[in-house]
Amino acid sequence: LSGEERTSRMSRASMVILDELEFDANVVTIPLVCAIIVATTSQFLVGYNTGVMNPPVNVVFPGHSTLSWSMAVAAFAVGGPFGAIVGGQMADQRGRRGALLIGTWTFLLGGLLQTFALDMFTIILARFVIGFASGFSSVLVPIYLGELAPPTMRGQLGTVTQFAMVIGILAADLIAFPFAKEGKWRMLFGFTPLMALLQLILAPFLLESPRWLLGRDPKSLKARYILKRLRGLRYDHEVETELGHLLVGGAAQQQEQTSTIGVLKDMMSQPRVRTLLLSSFALQAAQQFSGINAVFYYSNSFFEGVIDNPLVGTSIVAGVNVLATYVALLVMDRFGRKTLILSSATGMLLSCIWIVASLLGYFSNVMALVAVNAYVSFFEIGLGPIPWLIVAEMFEGKYVATAMSTSSQLNWACNFIVGFVFPYMNKYLGPFSFVPFAIVLLATLIFAITILPETAGSSPEQMAKEMTRTFSESVVYQANPESASQIDIEWRKAMEQLQQEE
Ligand code: GLC
Repeated sequence: LSGEERTSRMSRASMVILDELEFDANVVTIPLVCAIIVATTSQFLVGYNTGVMNPPVNVVFPGHSTLSWSMAVAAFAVGGPFGAIVGGQMADQRGRRGALLIGTWTFLLGGLLQTFALDMFTIILARFVIGFASGFSSVLVPIYLGELAPPTMRGQLGTVTQFAMVIGILAADLIAFPFAKEGKWRMLFGFTPLMALLQLILAPFLLESPRWLLGRDPKSLKARYILKRLRGLRYDHEVETELGHLLVGGAAQQQEQTSTIGVLKDMMSQPRVRTLLLSSFALQAAQQFSGINAVFYYSNSFFEGVIDNPLVGTSIVAGVNVLATYVALLVMDRFGRKTLILSSATGMLLSCIWIVASLLGYFSNVMALVAVNAYVSFFEIGLGPIPWLIVAEMFEGKYVATAMSTSSQLNWACNFIVGFVFPYMNKYLGPFSFVPFAIVLLATLIFAITILPETAGSSPEQMAKEMTRTFSESVVYQANPESASQIDIEWRKAMEQLQQEE
């Protein structure tokens, strides 16, 4: 063949393979869906336990003090940061899968403790343990899904984490209709260990993250085997192409990690990484101080006197919350993160003002309910999911676990403050109790306009372009039929060996 003809054949071959790759890279396969469902069960439980104390406030050990109840609610968020610290370490040491399952065992333990509690003290203790499991899971699940996701679906899968959580909150309200009654409330708490048990039974569907495996051993056969199943790749050398992509993306750098402090220092010493890190901290703090959990922890008390049956109001809010998160799922990969944060903070700010005005009597009570719904809806299209998912997408492999763990600790600490302080804000500020949240939202808006960087390469178009380039470069190389089939033969041999070993 003449040189020219050879080049043109090669480029035609690479176009064919490129088409397939682009299709395959986004394919949603059954093993991927199963892994997502099993992993997000943990986030479902985080949501469930966020909401579960809201309805039965008057039926669990009636006569308890405000202090003991606030402590039980907030103990969840005291356990959270501890779970986030340990979760970050376990994620690297035990693998994403192993660590996730440790979280599940913790849910089981805490859930049993709460179900069979004989006094408020045990409930507080159990809430701490469940909070620990939740902090653990809030670090692990986003990392796990971020690493499993086909590159162009990362935003969507990140939102799935939030989606599982809000379904959990809704479930906690719906289940309260039959069970938030004297003598039946243990069923509310028993649901947590039941789901944890189910998750343990389904654990075989939880495949280890190929990216973590590659971080330990770039030659890992298991990583190749899992990637092939996850992506439904037909040609063995396609696996190598995507592996190349993962390795270029910094997967292999994980193992260089030293201590958390060491990694943080390293991050703070680079101006670009420092801005990203501080922005992710600011987003997490803004998320919690926007007051969202004042609603999910206390809406029942808040709605007393505003509407006849507070549980109906709480459930409507939780239902609207699920719908809004679904909308977020649809728009997340279509708009930039910055745009969504801006819209979210603006909408929440206006809703806050509306809530205060309603409580002051400028609008009817029904309008107060509508305002709370608007407030959570605007939360879910931006400030809800983005602080969680942005971490996995803006830091390279060697920083992800540390960034996720520290920002998650901050999130839980702020969560605790709101959970503990809101009953007192409600008591002393009365109809003005949402004013501090409005001020935070205004600050968030200013921060988003002036400082927040648009995460480079995270817009879907840019990411797609980036991927195509990486693929076409490796595909031109792979398109050499000899080397491709050679890789296939070696790969198949290795796979057979692996399957025999298993
Ligand atoms: C976010 C928050 C969490 C809150 C939830 C409500 O995930 O981190 O604290 O309860 O949204 O949907």
